[in-house]
Amino acid sequence: MGLKQIDYGSTDYQKMVELRKQILRQPLGLSFTEEELENEKGEILIAAFDEEVIMGCCVLTRIDNETLRLRQMAVLDTVQGKGIGASIMGFAENIARDKGYRFMIMHARNTAIGFYEKFGYKPKGIEFVEVNLPHHVMEKELE
Ligand SMILES: CC(C)(COP(=O)(O)OP(=O)(O)OC[C@H]1O[C@@H](n2cnc3c(N)ncnc32)[C@H](O)[C@@H]1OP(=O)(O)O)[C@@H](O)C(=O)NCCC(=O)NCCS
Repeated sequence: MGLKQIDYGSTDYQKMVELRKQILRQPLGLSFTEEELENEKGEILIAAFDEEVIMGCCVLTRIDNETLRLRQMAVLDTVQGKGIGASIMGFAENIARDKGYRFMIMHARNTAIGFYEKFGYKPKGIEFVEVNLPHHVMEKELE
């Protein structure tokens, strides 16, 4: 398995959007709007591939000069629990540090809080609803 940054609009990007639909949106009866995807031009797009098959992904969105938001974290359901999510987190944090960011945040589904806690993220503030699911903001200072 290899991790890489991918280009908006590329074949790899199309695979990423399909994976995100399958793992993050279809189970909720949702999809993406064109506007949502257009806003990803210029964002940091990360994916894990095994040969030509996408295994996992995430997107890093700039909040301000110091902070990136990690979002759209998804691993193919047949290979969850095998360390792919952890590899993506490490890769994403290295990119963030290399670019000089000090903080990473995310809107974590309550069911994923335990996953992010493994990497030192802490819940912050009160619960809120996004895509019809309870979430918490989580945050970590990158060393
Ligand atoms: C959450 C997700 C990205 C984790 O990826 P993964 O490849 O399955 O996770 P890993 O195998 O790398 O797990 C790393 C560690 O986190 C733990 N972990 C994984 N998912 C967890 C969860 N939902 N809650 C608590 N701990 C979790 C693992 O047990 C492992 O712990 P260990 O290091 O002590 O063995 C993946 O399961 C997924 O895509 N889930 C559905 C979509 C989703 O919820 N995305 C997040 C939206 S905020």
